[in-house]
Amino acid sequence: MKPTVEIKKGEKISKKLFDFMDKERINQYGKKTNLFNRKYHKKSNFFFVKNEKKIVGFGFLRPTEMRYKNKKYNLLALGGIMIISEEKGQGYGTILIQNMIDYSKKNKKTILGFCEKDLVDFYEKAGLKSKKEFSIRIEMEDPKTKERILDADKCAGIYYEGKEGFVSKVIKSKGVATYWMPDIKNPHF
Ligand SMILES: CC(C)(COP(=O)(O)OP(=O)(O)OC[C@H]1O[C@@H](n2cnc3c(N)ncnc32)[C@H](O)[C@@H]1OP(=O)(O)O)[C@@H](O)C(=O)NCCC(=O)NCCS
Repeated sequence: MKPTVEIKKGEKISKKLFDFMDKERINQYGKKTNLFNRKYHKKSNFFFVKNEKKIVGFGFLRPTEMRYKNKKYNLLALGGIMIISEEKGQGYGTILIQNMIDYSKKNKKTILGFCEKDLVDFYEKAGLKSKKEFSIRIEMEDPKTKERILDADKCAGIYYEGKEGFVSKVIKSKGVATYWMPDIKNPHF
């Protein structure tokens, strides 16, 4: 049967389903991994790839405000992409990303994520663009203390650009864009 994709708002996701995703993240990354902090995912859209009724993979798009050169941009942060272990290599990851791209086209919003350089090929094959070491152009800024958190890992940016042209604007000029997500430690969500 053809796989399907279901989109669900974070606030509508049951504890059981979050627990399932967390368990899969621990299987993939080990016990030290960041688990989903539900409180901060109420407005995120989670994408579930299903084969028959079984969830074989998931990921999210989380509304995020970026600031760059005194302008605000409402983007969708792409994260949590994962195909469960025994289901990898069957095209499900590609289907997941392509559905996110369709969503971005419909909503005319940029989607932006980060990944290690080994994974750039996968995301490009699925239809995203990439920019080497883009994470050094984005920093987290705590709105209360103005403390900045910089990325030490130099991750590639992977994106699908919406009409506001955020990524192109950052690439074409100098400077750093900022955003804030209280629940994450590294500025590459
Ligand atoms: C990366 C991941 C999402 C890919 O999903 P998948 O369903 O296994 O990938 P697909 O079957 O759709 O692969 C599509 C293409 O990408 C390539 N690809 C898949 N995983 C890859 C990887 N880890 N590195 C490089 N290329 C990869 C495939 O070889 C395939 O290429 P082909 O069409 O030329 O044969 C999945 O392997 C996964 O969950 N990995 C662990 C978690 C992770 O790294 N998530 C991303 C965090 S940024």
